[in-house]
Amino acid sequence: MKGEVAIGGAKNAALPILASTLLGGGDCVVSNLPQVRDVSTMVKLLHLLGVAYHLDGSCVTLNASDIHATEAPYDLVKTMRASVLVLGPLLARFGEATVSLPGGCAIGTRPVNLHLKGLVTLGADVYVEHGYIHAKASKLKGGRIELDFPTVTGTENLLMAACLADGTTVLHNAAKEPEIVDLADFLVKRGAKIFGAGTDTITIDGVSELHGAEYSVIPDRVEAGTYLMAGAVTQGDVLVNHCIPGHLSAVLSKLEEAGCDVYEEQHGVRLTAPQRLRPLEIKTLVYPGFPTDLQAQVMALMCVSSGTSVVSETVFEGRFLHVPELHRMGATIEVDGHHAVIQGTSVLTGAPVMASDLRASAGLILAGLAAEGETAVSRVYHLDRGYERFEEKLHELGANVQRLSGA
Ligand code: UD1
Repeated sequence: MKGEVAIGGAKNAALPILASTLLGGGDCVVSNLPQVRDVSTMVKLLHLLGVAYHLDGSCVTLNASDIHATEAPYDLVKTMRASVLVLGPLLARFGEATVSLPGGCAIGTRPVNLHLKGLVTLGADVYVEHGYIHAKASKLKGGRIELDFPTVTGTENLLMAACLADGTTVLHNAAKEPEIVDLADFLVKRGAKIFGAGTDTITIDGVSELHGAEYSVIPDRVEAGTYLMAGAVTQGDVLVNHCIPGHLSAVLSKLEEAGCDVYEEQHGVRLTAPQRLRPLEIKTLVYPGFPTDLQAQVMALMCVSSGTSVVSETVFEGRFLHVPELHRMGATIEVDGHHAVIQGTSVLTGAPVMASDLRASAGLILAGLAAEGETAVSRVYHLDRGYERFEEKLHELGANVQRLSGA
């Protein structure tokens, strides 16, 4: 693959930023939104709660002055777990929230116990009944929260709730992902008092209300990493524009270790791949470690590398559902608990395969690009949750890829 591709806004930054518009009235103008299904689902949920909006391509104006409901229903939450991000803002501003408890998902059980425990520390009364989380608090009170694990959406929910709490909240062992910093930057623009976002200790001084603001979402580091890997797996030469290389440090250093030449340019990253990639040892970790959201994609690369690789998944318990599909393409992978050992082969063979989740779909497509012959990926609707115009962008880089209706 050869050429340039432009990266859109980060889905995982856009979702909490949109949810946080519930924290106050005033117009919020959010730009550089990725045009993906999860973003439409969040806008739909906010509208159901009473948020007025005007969507124009990658820019949306929202106004949460007139909220008439505080319940996020099962039908929406089951299609997008990140709907749980409305819990903290609704509770903090209206004193109550009812949110369907997200169920299990393809990559693990994914509980939200740490979100709930943190809200209880802030003085909320929280219980689960008939599949719904019920949270109440006439006024949240700042407190010291020690997260057992630096959960990303948990940190975001608590950060948002604490913005309107009485007094100071200190979040220890907070997640440090760039998307947390982006949310905090937006909230600060709206009048919140937040210190230390991007470190493991975030301090929030509660304020009585937030106002509107204009904000542009950061570029998507997972989308950028996916296109760099598409270049790497096809012995390609790609320039990935509109991304922040600093957000991809762990990924870029692994791609270099695999033999790719990686250059940071003014607005992006250029990657030139070798004839044959070298094998890697990779462990997914919280930021700034290697992201779990690029694990399936990097595994596709390792399938065609020149030796034995080990990929250890430490963030989610069941995130290897793409492995049996890669086997169908001739890959040699053994899974033992959290570890996958991959024997690289010089050639994968195209096959019909099935996607299990958003990032697994991208991993299978990368494997298909490297494979001899045709690969048909079904359940490709998973892709539309998080990749904007994926097949068009791959096509622009020279891939022979088509979306078939009903796939
Ligand atoms: C977010 C991202 C997702 C990414 C993940 C890890 C969004 C919308 N999604 O998901 O793309 O793959 O971070 O980088 O931003 N856990 C608990 N209890 C909790 C919360 C989490 O045990 O209350 C566990 C989970 O089961 C998982 C681990 O913590 O094993 C990490 O999950 P978390 O950071 O919460 O991921 P999400 O925020 O759901």
